[in-house]
Amino acid sequence: MLAVTAVVAVLASAPSASAATTLGASAAEKGRYFGAAVAANHLGESGYASTLNQEFNSVTPENEMKWDALEPSRNSFNYGAADQIVSHAQSRGMKIRGHTLVWHSQLPGWVGGLGAADLRTAMNNHITQVAGHYKGKIHSWDVVNEAFQDGSSGARRSSPFQDKLGDGFIEEAFRTARATDPAAKLCYNDYNTDGQNAKSNAVYAMVRDFKARGVPIDCVGFQSHFNAQSPVPGDYQQNLQRFADLGVDVQITELDIEGSGAPQADSYRRVTQACLAVSRCTGITVWGVTDKYSWRASGTPLLFDGNYAKKPAYTAVLTALGGSSGGGGGGGGGGSQGCTATYSETERWGDRFNGKVTVTAGSSAITGWTVGVTVRSPQKVSTTWNGSPSWDTSGNVMTMRPNGNGTLAAGASTSFGFTLMANGEWSAPTVGACTAS
Ligand code: XIL
Repeated sequence: MLAVTAVVAVLASAPSASAATTLGASAAEKGRYFGAAVAANHLGESGYASTLNQEFNSVTPENEMKWDALEPSRNSFNYGAADQIVSHAQSRGMKIRGHTLVWHSQLPGWVGGLGAADLRTAMNNHITQVAGHYKGKIHSWDVVNEAFQDGSSGARRSSPFQDKLGDGFIEEAFRTARATDPAAKLCYNDYNTDGQNAKSNAVYAMVRDFKARGVPIDCVGFQSHFNAQSPVPGDYQQNLQRFADLGVDVQITELDIEGSGAPQADSYRRVTQACLAVSRCTGITVWGVTDKYSWRASGTPLLFDGNYAKKPAYTAVLTALGGSSGGGGGGGGGGSQGCTATYSETERWGDRFNGKVTVTAGSSAITGWTVGVTVRSPQKVSTTWNGSPSWDTSGNVMTMRPNGNGTLAAGASTSFGFTLMANGEWSAPTVGACTAS
C-alpha cells in the first residue's frame, strides 16, 4: 500500500514531458498541420510574426496568390508579396497552401472581357505560370474556389469561366494544375458545404465523378466560416467523412467562428475534434492570426485577440489536439549530471511515423541541451516540433537544440518530436547522447 502510494506520488509530481505546447506541434503529433492565413504586409509586426512562427506550421496567403494580385494585367505577373510569404514559411519549415488558381472573385476585369477560346488559353496560362513559379513549394493548391451556387439548386455559380467554358472548366483546371506541379495536392474549396445540404451534395457528386473518371483531384477544402446564422453543422464530422470515403483528403481551410468566450471555444473544439476523428482530415487552417486583422474583425472570430493574447478558443483547440499550455518544469528525481535522451515511437500511419525524444536533466539544472538523431536512408524527416533542428550535409543527421529557452530544472524533462517519412524503412532512428550546457 505504501509502495503504491509512493509510485502515485512520483507520477503526480513528474513534469508533463509529453504534451506539446503549441497548435502546430500538437497537431503534428496527431499527424496533421495547423495553419493560418497570412498577409504579407503584417509580417514585419513582431507580435504577428512571433505568434505565427511559434504556433503555426502551415500558412495560406490570404490574398497574395489570388488572380488580381498575381496577374493584374494579361501575362504580367507580380510575385513579390506572395514570394515574401513563401520564403517566410519555407525558411521556418512551414507548409504552404496555395490559394487560389481559379475563382470568380478578386479576378481582374480583363479576364471577364475575353471570348471563350481566349479565356481558356488565359486560364491555362495563369495556372501554368503560377503553379510553375511555385512548383515543389506548395503542399496543396485550391485549384478551383467556390464554383457552386448557394441554396437548393445545386447548380454551378455564374462566372466568366462557367458562363463561357461550361462545367468542363473545373476539370480542365485540375488537369492543367496536375501537369504543372505533380507533387502538389489539388483541392476543390468552397463554403456552405460544411454540412450535408444541396450545395455540398453537388460538390460531392462532382468529386465522385472526378474520381470515377480519373480527373486528378486529391482533396476537398471546407472553408468553415461560422457565426450565429451559420453555426457549425451538427453533421460536420459525417460530412467530412463522406467526402473522405470518396478517396480524397479533406482539409479545413479557412476556419473562423464569430463570437467569444465559452460558446466560441466550444464550437472550435467541435471542429477540431471532427477533424481528428476523420483520418483523412489532414489539417486545419484558421483564417488569420489575430482578431484585429480578420476579414470579419468585428466578429472576433479567431484564436488570438488584438493583442495576441490566447483566447478560450485557443485553449479549447490546443486541448482538443492533445496539447497543453501548462508550464511543465519542476519534478524531483536523482540521476546523473548532464542530461539523457530517450526515444519512443508515438504514432504510425501507412507512409510515416512520429518519433518523440524526451530530454531529462540530471541532478543539476541545465540551461541548454543538444541531441543528435540519425535517420536511416531513405527515411526523411518531414516535420519537427518543439526544437530547432540543423542538418549535416548527408541530410541524415539532425542535431536538435531547444527552440528558445532550454533551461531545465534538475530532473525535469522536455521533449521534441518529428515525423519520419518511412520510404519503406520502418526502423527507429538512432538517438545519440544528450549534451547539456
Ligand atoms: C477574403 C480575405 O480574407 C479578405 O482580405 C479579402 O478582402 C476578401 O477575401 N473565401 C475565400 C477567401 O476563399 O479567399 C476569402 O478571403 C474569404 C472567403
